[in-house]
Amino acid sequence: MKPKVFVTRPLPSPALDLLAEHFEVAFHPMDLPMAPEPLAEACRQIEGLVVAGTRVTAEVLNSAAKLRAVSTASVGYDNIDIAACTARRIPVTNTVGVLEDTTADLAFALLLAVARRVVEGDRFVRDGLWREWQWGLLHASDVHHKTLGLYGFGRIGQAVARRGRGFAMRILYYARHRVAEAIEREFEAQYVDRETLLRQSDFLSLHIPKTPETVHAIGARELGLMKPSAFLINTARGAVVDEPALAHALKAKTIGGAGLDVFEQEPVVHPALIDLSNVVLMPHVGSATDETRLKMAMRAAENLIELLGGRRPADIVNPEAVA
Ligand code: 8YV
Repeated sequence: MKPKVFVTRPLPSPALDLLAEHFEVAFHPMDLPMAPEPLAEACRQIEGLVVAGTRVTAEVLNSAAKLRAVSTASVGYDNIDIAACTARRIPVTNTVGVLEDTTADLAFALLLAVARRVVEGDRFVRDGLWREWQWGLLHASDVHHKTLGLYGFGRIGQAVARRGRGFAMRILYYARHRVAEAIEREFEAQYVDRETLLRQSDFLSLHIPKTPETVHAIGARELGLMKPSAFLINTARGAVVDEPALAHALKAKTIGGAGLDVFEQEPVVHPALIDLSNVVLMPHVGSATDETRLKMAMRAAENLIELLGGRRPADIVNPEAVA
C-alpha cells in the first residue's frame, strides 16, 4: 500500500505524476487557497502534505494524526505553523534555489516601472490622452547610478543586487547577519546599519521573511527616514510593511513611490493605495513564470518523496524536528 498524500492545488502534471509514482495522491482541484476546515478533513488519513499558498494551522495538523511530512511549494513558510509541526516531529521543507532569480526579476520590474512611470504612461496612451510629443511629459526618476538598498541580503536580495550592478547602481545592504566578504566583493555591496540604509537608499527593496520580529519593520518612523524621492519595493511579505503608514507617506509624497507585489491582507489591498498613481501594484506573482512554477512544484514533490522515504533533503526548515 502506497502512503496517502494530499496536494492543496492542481500543481503542474509532471509534479503530480512524480508523486503518483510513489504515493496515493489526492489533490484540491481548484487553484484557490483551502480553508482550514476542508483541509483538515482532507488530511485525516494522509502521511504527506504538499502545500502551496494555503494555511496549515494547528487545527489542520491536529486532524492529521498520521502526517509525517509537509512540503511547501514556496520559499516562504509563514503560512505553516512550524512550531506545531516541530512539536509533532514533522519535518517541513521549502523550495530554495529555484525561484530567487524570477522573484528578483519582478522586484526589478516593479522598481523600473514605478521609477519610469511605466503604468501611468500605458494608461495615458490607452486613455487617448497623448496628443503631442511634449518635453515635459511624464518626467520620471533615473535608476542607473542610483543607490539600491537591500533590506535583507539572502538569495533574493543578492539576485536583486546583481541586477542593480547591471544598472551601475551603488549597493547598500542591511541584514541581521553580515555576509561573507567574498559576497560583499562580488556585488560591491556595502553593509550599513538600518538607519543608514533607510536614509541613503534611492530604492529600498525588502527581502526579509515574515516573522514576529519583522512585522511592520517598515512603519511610519522608517518611512520618515527615507528620502522624499525614494521608492519602496516589496516582493517579500506584505506584513513587513505597515500599509496604512505607507499609503499615508505615498499620499503625502514624503516618499517618491512604491512597487508592491505583496500585501498585509491578501487579496485585500488598502483602498488608499488603489487611488494613488505613484504606486505599482501586482497580485503576489513574484515567482509566477511557467519555468519557475514547474521547478517549484517538482522540488516540492521531490522533497516529499525524500522525507517520506526517511531521508533528509537540504530544504528542511525545522531540522529540530528530525534531530
Ligand atoms: C509562492 C512566495 O508562490 O515562495 C514564496 O514564498 O511568496 C511565492 O513564490 C506563494 O507563497 C505560494 O506558494
